[in-house]
Amino acid sequence: MAVTERTLVLIKPDGIQRGLVGEITQRFERKGLKLIGMKMMSLDEAVLREHYAHIADKPFFPGVSKFMQSSPVVALCLEGLDVVDTVRRITGITKAREAEAGSIRGDFAMSVSCNVIHASDSVENAEKEVKRFFNPDDIYDYDKSEYLHVYGDDER
Ligand code: PPS
Repeated sequence: MAVTERTLVLIKPDGIQRGLVGEITQRFERKGLKLIGMKMMSLDEAVLREHYAHIADKPFFPGVSKFMQSSPVVALCLEGLDVVDTVRRITGITKAREAEAGSIRGDFAMSVSCNVIHASDSVENAEKEVKRFFNPDDIYDYDKSEYLHVYGDDER
């Protein structure tokens, strides 16, 4: 079994403004996930229309777009076994005030829009989203020595 599944996390402007970049990144690192890309960037309307195509016709989309452009975001690319589902569980549900305690949204947010991070919701979308925010040169392939203690022999 090869540990090659990847996912995208965006630390949203509220996460940046509230100084949560280290805390959020640390939660994923402590879980045993491998950080293979990390970059700060400003998002424009075009990339937000593409990224949020499934909500582009909702009345709240202009607000989401304005919020996501209100400061830079930090994009993380994480790798691990079943990493898409794992990261979604660590993230918690969209409506943050109802998110499970212990999840990132459950611990740090109250809102459906200011919900600290975005995380890809399926393997198919994760592949598209990683490509949307990272060039191939921005992704780092390296051996993580910790894997010896994170996964069993049959999972690595
Ligand atoms: S999710 O997590 O992608 O499954 O969530 P989804 O329900 O599809 O929502 C997509 C993004 O839209 C934002 N959102 C809202 N913003 C403002 N008002 C309302 N009512 C609202 N509902 C959803 C939400 O923050 C989701 O952003 P991401 O970046 O996907 O978490």
